[in-house]
Amino acid sequence: MSSQRLSLRQPDDWHVHLRDGAMLQAVARATARQFARAIVMPNLSPPVTTVAAAAAYRQRIAAALPNGCDFQPLLTAYLTDAIDPAEIALGFGEGAWVACKLYPANATTNSAAGVTAIEGLTPVFETLERIGMPLLIHGEVTSPDIDIFDREAVFIERHLAPLLGRHPGLKVVLEHITTIDAVDFVRTGPANLAATITPHHLHINRNAMFAGGLRPDLYCLPVAKRELHRIALRGAATSGNPKFFLGTDSAPHARTAKEAACGCAGIFNAPFALESYAAVFEQENALEKLEAFASEFGPRFYGLPLNPGQISLVREPLEVPRQLHLNDAAGTAVELVPFHAGETLPWRLQLDAPIAPR
Ligand code: DOR
Ligand code: ZN
Repeated sequence: MSSQRLSLRQPDDWHVHLRDGAMLQAVARATARQFARAIVMPNLSPPVTTVAAAAAYRQRIAAALPNGCDFQPLLTAYLTDAIDPAEIALGFGEGAWVACKLYPANATTNSAAGVTAIEGLTPVFETLERIGMPLLIHGEVTSPDIDIFDREAVFIERHLAPLLGRHPGLKVVLEHITTIDAVDFVRTGPANLAATITPHHLHINRNAMFAGGLRPDLYCLPVAKRELHRIALRGAATSGNPKFFLGTDSAPHARTAKEAACGCAGIFNAPFALESYAAVFEQENALEKLEAFASEFGPRFYGLPLNPGQISLVREPLEVPRQLHLNDAAGTAVELVPFHAGETLPWRLQLDAPIAPR
């Protein structure tokens, strides 16, 4: 490894929103260009709650990618109060999906059909424990009396700790962690508990949303927290601890949906995700830890093989566009603002056989 080139085993994204319809066609390539596989979130409208819906979504994802692209989507089942554990196990056995996603009802985008009472899902958790299927959690309480900046810490105390106590064999990924509380809880927890960390929570604290005015492009859920939390997340990501691995939570919304009276939560970081993580690892003098975080700890936790391929990052300035006009299959442009819009990042992904963006 020279100081100008960083070769890595091909990474995976363990948490992404690929969306559906025109948006899927516009954004899927960005993820397929950077990652070999990705855990694809099921919060579509309607959500992915059946094996048939997952199979149909898999086909729509394949249709949105260029011929010959060997990107592998790893789908997830959306938990509702009424979901049948037998359906979950059937889909897991058939490879229709690889994990279940728990959204507390109304916690975020398309989560209205999510779970209203976690204790009510005991038969589901027993099934997951028995078949070894991971449970991916959006860890925020939704009660209006809890301050939005405390929602993750309160979720851990009220729901996650008791859940792990009731189901000690359950494999759990606490997704997109944002607090020192989550870092400490995962670090000191059992080996079957892990967490994903996004690039944006490594780069920004909550001030960024209000820098010189309201910045809707930096609004996501869980919302960015104080600087002390960001520092803890950077420590966890670059620590070499296998419980912390890459998950971008890239969550595109059209520019018009972000810049609205009630703007959507989500940061579109897929186009330059690896470059974004590499900048953090370099700032922390931990570039040698990037490969394990991006390419090894995730597959090990999920019990999947490591990717055989390699990618390279080269030390060349990358100017991130202020906005992207990505076309759907009909050629209609979707206007999106990427994370780091207008900034220059120090590393650039170099591909032998690039997948061109539309
Ligand atoms: O910011 C977010 N956007 N957080 C989520 O949990 C969901 C996501 C989305 O789907 O837009
Ligand atoms: Zn997400």
